[in-house]
Amino acid sequence: MEKRLLLKKRICSFLVACAMLLAIVPVQALAVNEENGPKSFLAGPFMLAPKTDGIVVTWELDKAMKSTIAYGPSADQMKTVDVPVEEGEPFQGVPMHMYRARLTGLTPDTRYTYKVTAENGESVEGSFRTLPVNAEEIRFVVMSDSHRFETAEQVSAAIAKFDPHFILHTGDTVEGTGSQKDQFAYIFRNAGDFLHHYPVVFNSGNHDYGTYFDEYISKTQKEQYHSNENGRNVSFNVGGLHITMVDSNPWSLFELNSSSGGSVDPATKKLVEDSLNWLKDDLASPEAKNATFRVLTMHHPYEDDLTRKYIPPIAEAGNVNIMFAGHTHEYSRGVSADPTRGAKTLYVTQGDARIGDSKINLGKDNERPNENFAEILATGKGDMIECTVKGDVLTYSNIGLSGGEEKVVETVSLFSGEPSLQYEDISITPDSVLSGATVKISAKVTNTGKGLATAAFQINDNGKDRYLYNFGDKATSRVVALKPGESKTLSGELELVELGKHTLKMEGYTKNVEVAFRNATYSYDNLRVKLGDGETSDLTSDKMHVKADVKNIGNETGTAEPAAHDQWAGGRRRIGIARRGRNQDGGIHLYLPHGRRLRGAHRRFPGADRVHSGRDTGRAGRSRPVRYGERRPDPRQPDAGSIQRRLRPVAGRLGRLCGDSG
Ligand SMILES: [Fe+2]
Ligand SMILES: [Fe+2]
Repeated sequence: MEKRLLLKKRICSFLVACAMLLAIVPVQALAVNEENGPKSFLAGPFMLAPKTDGIVVTWELDKAMKSTIAYGPSADQMKTVDVPVEEGEPFQGVPMHMYRARLTGLTPDTRYTYKVTAENGESVEGSFRTLPVNAEEIRFVVMSDSHRFETAEQVSAAIAKFDPHFILHTGDTVEGTGSQKDQFAYIFRNAGDFLHHYPVVFNSGNHDYGTYFDEYISKTQKEQYHSNENGRNVSFNVGGLHITMVDSNPWSLFELNSSSGGSVDPATKKLVEDSLNWLKDDLASPEAKNATFRVLTMHHPYEDDLTRKYIPPIAEAGNVNIMFAGHTHEYSRGVSADPTRGAKTLYVTQGDARIGDSKINLGKDNERPNENFAEILATGKGDMIECTVKGDVLTYSNIGLSGGEEKVVETVSLFSGEPSLQYEDISITPDSVLSGATVKISAKVTNTGKGLATAAFQINDNGKDRYLYNFGDKATSRVVALKPGESKTLSGELELVELGKHTLKMEGYTKNVEVAFRNATYSYDNLRVKLGDGETSDLTSDKMHVKADVKNIGNETGTAEPAAHDQWAGGRRRIGIARRGRNQDGGIHLYLPHGRRLRGAHRRFPGADRVHSGRDTGRAGRSRPVRYGERRPDPRQPDAGSIQRRLRPVAGRLGRLCGDSG
């Protein structure tokens, strides 16, 4: 009986093993098939530098051998040409064997099939389409930071569905560095079927910057397009678009690195200057000026300090309509910080194409999606951007590919002409204010134009034009954009300083406001506190030093007092600075729970005037927790010292009140 049971068990185990083997075999076979692919093709074929009448099909073989490309718009119109090998940079002692088929004399807006064959008989097939001339509609995809490219298959499917004329990649194509050649080869051979069917124009990111980016990409782009001599910048036109792709690495990688230890080295400085001058010239060219839209791309985005220092002044003067960048792996959409330009220049940072995700945060009327920038109007995630240009309207959709699904994260339309906004129900209150105070201006704004537009109140104040561009509470005020047809009631604050009557005019509405004399009055900013007398805070000390920047916003000279005080209120300990006098405006207060002390060294609260209940108001209105030390049952008075400063009135007279040590 036992023997029969054992036999049964063995038969079962055998059958299970057979089933497992059968399940494994196809997987192994598939893997072997991939291995058996055209081994001599290290990379490609992939298409670069698309034009209306030409394109460059590129591939890399493992050794120098004869290679041909057969191409044509249909099977009976195929043409075969020999493509010579171009020896490139060595990698691990072996020079690269690049093939660049520079196809010319092609018909615009036509799909061609091609077959690339190596002398050893191995071949790869694909297709491409030439750029259109005077097309009614132009479609293009923008993507960034594909790196490991886990979404490659999904991206390929989405691209095939959208069927763009070309793709722009704003950098970080590979995961590693520009000196890892095999990573480029891997991407151009394996990652995404779209690479064999759609041409891509590339920016270099910080991850792909270097020799191999040049070998695979930049050499061809510079040869085929308008470019700068000693950089990697290119520009080209398609339909009503002028596209300029600038290399941001000279400033946001090299200048950043060299300036972190002091000044910028002359070679880096020259590289940055050359790039920026080239961009200025390019945007001033007839090709750019006569285009309906100017599109600018680079790797480092608007959020990057050096990009923001260098690019907006040039891009906005050159009438750039939209800039696409990447690098942060987070989506954002901003507008110009200049109210006279607004949504006439959009700054879009793309989410990465590396992994699938989709998310959007538009903030609220009084809440910024990015606390550091009033002009950033949306943040989120996404994998690629699909753009459609029809006449004078460019529409883009941010596409997210999370969970195997294709989701439209948001869609935005730009109009190449002037925005059109209507302002109604305007009100300005009150009738009189003290010097340095604000009036509240409200209006209902409607976008009656064809594209996104930003609200900006243009106010004529006694003959001088002024703008209200940030709406809502002072600390969190933000720029507001409206889609075509959208209406919003907005209000903001305008400061009036000069004494006497102000005649304020806005869109046909007039209001007279009387600005009255203000006694010496102090505003406090940038509070720093330190416990104890040492260089850094002594957490066991009950002595608190308080420092603040103080400004006299009154109309007479006066003396500000650093009068720190300490009192108990509602079970909490309140420590204030300069709130005693009747002319103190907006002192700074720390409210600490009973029996606890503020911990930490110098704290900084620019723009804040209130700290309470364990939260403080930080830069741009963000709340941060205040950390507390251990329980102290008997806290004594803080000592803020007694240095006083005579301050003259208004006009930015900034003094500093401080305690008895730094
Ligand atoms: Fe990246
Ligand atoms: Fe990057």
